[in-house]
Order: sequence, then structure tokens, then C-alpha cells
Amino acid sequence: MGRTFKRLLVTGGAGFIGSNFVHRTLARRPYEVVVLDNLTYAGNLANLASVSSDSRFTFVQGDIRDAELVDKLMAEADQVVHFAAESHVDRSIMDGSNFARTQVVGTLTLLEAARQQGVTCYLQVSTDEVYGHVEDGVSREDDAPAPRSPYSATKAGADLVVNAYHITHGLTTVVTRGSNTYGPHQYPEKLLPVAITNALDGKPIPVYGDGMQVRDWLHVDDHCDGIDRVLHDGAPGEAYNIGAEHEGLGHGRTNLDVLRAVLDLLGKPYDMLQFVGDRPGHDRRYALGCEKLRALGWQTVLPFPVGLERTVQWYAERRDWWEPLKQDAGYVAYYNRNYGDREKLAAAR
Ligand code: NAD
Ligand code: DAU
Repeated sequence: MGRTFKRLLVTGGAGFIGSNFVHRTLARRPYEVVVLDNLTYAGNLANLASVSSDSRFTFVQGDIRDAELVDKLMAEADQVVHFAAESHVDRSIMDGSNFARTQVVGTLTLLEAARQQGVTCYLQVSTDEVYGHVEDGVSREDDAPAPRSPYSATKAGADLVVNAYHITHGLTTVVTRGSNTYGPHQYPEKLLPVAITNALDGKPIPVYGDGMQVRDWLHVDDHCDGIDRVLHDGAPGEAYNIGAEHEGLGHGRTNLDVLRAVLDLLGKPYDMLQFVGDRPGHDRRYALGCEKLRALGWQTVLPFPVGLERTVQWYAERRDWWEPLKQDAGYVAYYNRNYGDREKLAAAR
């Protein structure tokens, strides 16, 4: 194993992937973990409840754009894993301004503090969406960025700033680009938690456009293990794709395939699927080549059918987690706006 640390600063650790990463890190590594999260609608302290009394864990509520706070936390840490982001494409289409502020200004604030305080490794959690969609073949780390949504454009902007800090200031940076991630504690705005919880409630499941878009579904445990691997062994200044490589294995899945699998697991009929107006600029297909990360010894562990069954079971057992989120007035307003607008779009065709 390459780098080792004592104290990690994890931004966005109250969100979906960040909280899973914190659980895995505390369970498998001897490090202290400090989470910095300002608890947007997607941040949830319930995601960290089971580690809250761990003496190696500290939670700080605050914004990654607060330079004074970030500087103080960075001085006490020797490494940072940066998850915090506005992460939902549909919200970025409604209003992209906060995406630029969080992704670009937030990342710059962290990088500046990291170099001032001499952290030994800065890891940027990025996404396969920075490559844009690919009709066939796979995206590799050296491909030029070609983002197509406000979300992915601001994530690509953040990647470029990270690279600039490595080149200009010699900061040890690494970047991970993960594919569509699923698993427990994912906020019910993304496809799988929307579908599973709507199916459990007997409500229609919205399918954008023709439902033939392809995503490379990656279980959150595999994604977190990939991040851990890059953190310890990734080469400075390099980026690493983290995907399930389903396409390469010959079983790429369309959204319709995935939704039918959810309904099969719950014993529900396919007529719960409701075709609605498409997402503007909808990326058709993502696929990653992950040879570079596999060369560091990482591989996926959870096959999609196993991971999906566990995830469906988790949501079936954890209504206490997701029902309050879906009943929240802010969520209801978002849901009506997002899906209401789609109805109008579809009707206008
Ligand atoms: P999420 O929306 O579940 O969580 C984001 C977290 O960041 C929340 O806890 C939120 O409170 C926090 N946050 C947002 N703005 C902040 C700010 N200004 N200051 C402090 N905290 C702030 O997101 P996620 O799905 O867990 O994604 C985490 C990261 O992984 C993101 O950078 C995302 O781009 C990337 N990613 C996600 C996926 C996926 O499929 N979910 C795949 C690849 C990469
Ligand atoms: O690829 C990695 C990205 O995956 C991450 O960077 C993003 O943070 C994450 O949100 C996710 O982006 P997507 O846009 O691919 O995920 P989402 O769950 O929103 O949508 C997945 C697919 O399902 C996409 O083709 C749109 C479609 N969809 C989505 C929703 C919410 C539907 O058909 N119906 C829906 O209700």
C-alpha cells in the first residue's frame, strides 16, 4: 500500500456516497475522519447516526466555500476526499447557478486551503458524465471533457481546476470518475430510489423518453473501494475511472431493463411504468474503461442483480429513512415541478 494518513477531511459526508465512504473507512482503516457538510436537502445526519458516537469521528456543519473554516479544518487534516456537490442533473436543468457556486468556487476554496496547509493528498470525486455521452466504445481517462448538462459542465470545470493546482502548485491531487451509483441512503430523486419507493407505495414510475438510455450501474460499496484504492495508490495528477464495465462484459442495461428488474423483485406489474416527457439534452449512454484502476488491484465485487436485490430490500425495510424525506414540503414541490413539467412537455408533442 502507498500513502497512509492519520486524519481525513471528508466533504459531503452526510450525502449518499460520502456517508457510505465514511462507514467503510472507519470500519477498515485506523484513521480519524472529519466530515464537513452544510446539510443541503441531500445531506442527512441520519446517514451518519451509526458512527456518531465513534471517538474517531467528528461532524462539522459548514460550507466548503467558507475559506476560514476550510483553512482551519485543512490545517488539522493530512488528506481530503471531496464529495460535496450539487449532484442531481434534473435540478441543474431547473437552475444551474448553485451548481457553479458549489462545484467550482467550492473546489477552488478547498484546493487553495489544501496547498496553503500542505495536505499530502487531495482526492476529487468526479463523474463519468464529464466525458459526455458515448454512442459506442468506452470513455477513458485521457478523453477530452465534453459535458452536456449544467451539472456535468460544472463538475468538469472543477476537474480542470484540480488539474491546474497540480500543475501550477505541485499539489498531490488524484481524481476519480465514477459511474451511476446505487445502494442504501440514496436520496429519492435519483432513478432507483424514485422507482423503488414509488413501487412500494403503488405509485407510477416515471420513465423519461423511450427508456432506452444506458447507464453503467455501480454499487456504492464498489465505488467507495475504488476511491479508497486511488487515495492510497493513485499516481499524483492522474484520474481514474470507476465503473462496473457492464457494457464491456456484454450486458449493458437500459433504464427499462433496470426498472423491470426492480418490479420483478417486488412482484409488481410492468404497467406501473409511466412514460413521461424526456430530460432536455438527455445523455443516451455512458460506458467507462477501467483498466487503469484495475491495474492498481481494484475490481468490482457486487454483480448488479445481487446489489439491486440488496438495495430493494434496504428500501423495503427502511421506510423510516425515506418516508420523511418524501413527505417534506421541499421534496413535494421539487417532485411536482420536475414531473409536472414533463407532463406538459409530453402533452405539447
Ligand atoms: P448527494 O447529493 O447525495 O450528497 C451531496 C452532499 O454534499 C450532501 O450531504 C450535501 O449536504 C453536501 N453539500 C452540498 N453542497 C455543499 C456545500 N456547499 N458545502 C458543504 N457540503 C455540501 O451526492 P452523492 O450522490 O453522494 O454524490 C457525491 C459525489 O459523487 C458528488 O461529487 C457527485 O458528483 C459524485 N458522483 C455521484 C455519482 C452518483 O451516481 N450518485 C456518480 C459519480 C460521481
Ligand atoms: O453517471 C454518474 C451520475 O449518475 C452522477 O454524476 C450523478 O450525480 C447522478 O445523479 C447520476 O446521474 P444520472 O442523470 O445518470 O442519474 P439519474 O438517477 O437522475 O437518472 C438515471 C437515468 O434514469 C437517466 O437516463 C434519466 C432516467 N430517469 C431518471 C429519473 C430520476 C428516468 O427515466 N426517470 C426518473 O424519474
